[in-house]
Amino acid sequence: MATQNKNLAVVILAAGVGTRMKSSLPKVMHKIAGKPMVLHALDTARALGAEKIITVIGPAMEDARDAVAPHPITVQERRLGTGDAVKAALPELKGFSGDVLILYGDVPLVSEQSLQALLDHHRTGNFGASVLAMAPPDASGYGRIVQNPDGTLKAIIEEKDASAEEKMIRLCNSGIMVIAALGLEKNISAIKNDNAQGEYYLVDIVTEINRAGGQCGVIRGDYRELRGVNTRSQLAELESFAQDILRHRAMDNGATLIDPRSVYLSADTQIGRDVILHPGVVIGPGVRIGDGAEILPYSHVEGAVIGAGASIGPFARIRPGSTIGEDAEVGNFTEVNRSALGQGVKAKHVSYLGDAQIGAESNIAAGTVIANYDGFFKHKTVLGENVSTGCNCTLVAPVKVGEGSIIAAGSTIDQDVPPGALAIAREDVEIKKDWAKKYRAKKSKEKAAKKSA
Ligand code: UD1
Ligand code: MG
Repeated sequence: MATQNKNLAVVILAAGVGTRMKSSLPKVMHKIAGKPMVLHALDTARALGAEKIITVIGPAMEDARDAVAPHPITVQERRLGTGDAVKAALPELKGFSGDVLILYGDVPLVSEQSLQALLDHHRTGNFGASVLAMAPPDASGYGRIVQNPDGTLKAIIEEKDASAEEKMIRLCNSGIMVIAALGLEKNISAIKNDNAQGEYYLVDIVTEINRAGGQCGVIRGDYRELRGVNTRSQLAELESFAQDILRHRAMDNGATLIDPRSVYLSADTQIGRDVILHPGVVIGPGVRIGDGAEILPYSHVEGAVIGAGASIGPFARIRPGSTIGEDAEVGNFTEVNRSALGQGVKAKHVSYLGDAQIGAESNIAAGTVIANYDGFFKHKTVLGENVSTGCNCTLVAPVKVGEGSIIAAGSTIDQDVPPGALAIAREDVEIKKDWAKKYRAKKSKEKAAKKSA
């Protein structure tokens, strides 16, 4: 639900390399629920109705730049601290006079609701800046929140600069803050790097605003959604939290998940009402599941539309670019790849259907394989409505089979079949009467003779 926040710009800080991830991929490009972390932040910013979303990336982070397009990026040439990162975004904010919300590319699960609460608090209090705070079970590494007696924000002290007393404070900075654009440039420029890490700390803007006679606000959010990712273990923790949110959302919208913890969804999964997801189902990115569809155990679906009332699996794989028609049935060990199955199509056992268009009510028998690849190129196969393929038949693409035709079991079809025809491509059966009977008698005699020798 896009809320309209007038005069809101969002800056996503994402220039960090993420050394502790031990990865050749920039940290913010690691995925949670099938979506790069930086895009979680970006999509939340969009949901807030921000009029401008600027992502600050580091040098040589082209994939992050491409991921956020068409939203602009700015490159922070040297990683001199969060204050310097926001400074890098200032040219994009020229002439902007509203609120600037700072998000972190490695804090992907902050909810729209929490951010809206922060913005409301900030606007109601008429603050110069407001911070989303949290109380993590272990505060080490975080900046500590120092409040005035009236609850407003006095300062944020980074752990490395904190006194023993300040380190006792449990309320920590999540890093997410909103700052009035007015005076932002002046306040950012006033920040110095005379601290333990020699970095330009964005949090020092709080001190600057207070010094100039302004006030800053702070509200507390839920640590589970405000925690960041620095390591692969934390990535896994957030994945598990994200999955729980997605599972509950699906159930709240009317889907049955028999064993929710064994079902994996993607951030963009769309699930209709009365859908049943069985244990071990994995839904990759780009999937829409229509009302009343059922996905049986251990099936993998990605980049596909599953029609209302369709039944998938158990043990089925639906690959990107596929559409499964209403009430169609795709059964065990069937793989569907870049194919469109019409309404009521049945492909219930052990088939490969690639680059195919299959007309409504067709029946694909066990072992039907579409040979779509000639070793160099992929070709299309088109089946009309009501076609029946026999068991173990191979359709060599490109090939067209007309409406209502029947393909005999065991046939290899490499030419078009007209509507209403039987296509059969196999040797005639030859029956040798009593052959087996005589053979068995002869061999049994030989065996007995060998034993008694
Ligand atoms: C920061 C906060 C700290 C807070 C913590 C929450 C400051 C000074 N400190 O500390 O109060 O408790 O986050 O996790 O802000 N980044 C850049 N360019 C830079 C430096 C950082 O883009 O030059 C980005 C990083 O990619 C990251 C975010 O800013 O997304 C935070 O940077 P990080 O170095 O992790 O800050 P912390 O030391 O954790
Ligand atoms: Mg950090």
